[in-house]
Amino acid sequence: MTDAGFAYSNLFRKDLPPPAPRWTGFPKYNFIGGHNDPVRIPAAALAEAATSVLRRRGADLALYNFDGPQGYLELRQLVVDKVAQRPAIKCTVDDVLITSGSGQAIDLVNGLLLERGDTVILEEFTYGGALTKLKRLGVNIIGAPLDEEGLKIDALARIIEDLGRKGIIPKYVYTIPTVQNPTGSILPLERREALLALTRKHGVPVFEDECYADLTWDGDGPPALYAIDPQQVIHIGSFSKTLAPSLRLGYAIADWQAMSRLVACKRETDSGTGALDQMVVAEYFSQNFDDHVGGLTETLHQKLDAMVEAVEREFGTAIEKMWKPKGGIFLWLKLPDRIDVTKLVAPAAKAGVVFNPGPEWSCDPDTTKSHLRLCFALPSKDMIREGVAAFARVCYEETGIPEQSANVRRTRRAD
Ligand SMILES: Cc1ncc(COP(=O)(O)O)c(C=O)c1O
Repeated sequence: MTDAGFAYSNLFRKDLPPPAPRWTGFPKYNFIGGHNDPVRIPAAALAEAATSVLRRRGADLALYNFDGPQGYLELRQLVVDKVAQRPAIKCTVDDVLITSGSGQAIDLVNGLLLERGDTVILEEFTYGGALTKLKRLGVNIIGAPLDEEGLKIDALARIIEDLGRKGIIPKYVYTIPTVQNPTGSILPLERREALLALTRKHGVPVFEDECYADLTWDGDGPPALYAIDPQQVIHIGSFSKTLAPSLRLGYAIADWQAMSRLVACKRETDSGTGALDQMVVAEYFSQNFDDHVGGLTETLHQKLDAMVEAVEREFGTAIEKMWKPKGGIFLWLKLPDRIDVTKLVAPAAKAGVVFNPGPEWSCDPDTTKSHLRLCFALPSKDMIREGVAAFARVCYEETGIPEQSANVRRTRRAD
C-alpha cells in the first residue's frame, strides 16, 4: 500500500460493487448475518479429528481434488447418510457436490441456469445473499407471497400463469422450505406436493435451499422437495449453521444431468474446496452429528426464547408482527409503518447494535422498510437482553417508538 494509492484504479471494471469499508472489528451487540454459537464450537474434538484424519490421509493433500472433483468421499458419504435420515433424501455420493459454502452452490446453480434478462421467482422475504447474486446477474426477480407456513401456492400459481401469458417461463422457483430465512416457517407436506405439481405442470425447476433444516425445534419436518421429486429439484445445504460458518463448507445434490454441469462449472471457478476442512468435518461429524446438532438446537431454542422475551419486554405493542421461527437462528419482526429501519442502522451501530434491515431481505424493498431481522445465535443470553434494550432505546430516541419502553425499563430496575 502506498500513500498515493493504486496507480491503475482508472482501469477498474465499471460495474464494481461499492468499495468495502476497512474492517474495524465486530460490534458489541451483533444481531447481523448468520453467525453461530461460539460456545457450541467443539474446538477440542475438531482438533482431535484433525489429528486423526491427517495421520490417516494427510499425504493425499499432495493432490488437487484427491477424491475427485465432487469432493472428499467421506464427506459426501456423510451428506448421503445425513440427508437420508432427516429430509428423507435417497441419493448416492455421485449425486453430491461439496462446495465452498452453500453460497458457492447458489453461484453454481445460477451459473447453470441463468442468463441476463431471465426471470426467477423467490419468496417475497428471502436470503439477502441470494438477492445480491441475482441482482448482479441482471435477472428479473419476482417475489411470491408467504404466510406463516411458507409459500402460498395459489398465489405462486397466479404469478406463474401471469408470466406464462406474457410468454415468460421462470428459470426457477428458489425456496427455503424448512426454516425459511428470514421467517422461520416450515412448509407443510401438502404445500410441498402442490408446489412440485404446479412447477412440474409449467416446466419450472425448483431450487431448494436447506441451510437450516437440521436445526428445527420439533425434530423431523416433512421430506425435502428433492426427496419427493429429484428430477424437478436441485437441493443445496450447508455446514455453516450445523457446525461453523468459517469452515466454508456446503453441498449441492442433483441428478447427474444437472450434477455433471455443476461439476464442470465448479472446475471453471476453483481448483477444489479446501480438503482439510472437508476431512475434519467428515471425521468429526461421522461420530457426533446427532449429539452435536441436538445440543446446538437446544441452545439456539433457549436463545430464541431469551430474544422473544427481550423484544416483547422492550418493544411491547410496537411489534406489529413477530414471526416465531420453528428452528434456525433468526427472528423476523415488523415495527409500525412509520418506522423506516434503514434510518436506524447508523444510530444503532453507534450504540454498538447491528441488525439486518428488512429491505435487504425482501424482493420488494419499498414495502419492507419497517421489517428487520435479528440473529440470536452468536450473542449470549445476557448480551441478547442488553442489546435488544439498547436497540429499543435507539429506536425510541430516533422515532418516539416504542413509547412504553422507558416505563418498562424503570419497572425492571425497581425489581
Ligand atoms: C438460506 C441461505 N442459503 C445460503 C447461505 C449461505 O451460507 P454458507 O455459504 O455459509 O453455506 C445462507 C447464509 O446465511 C442462507 O441463509
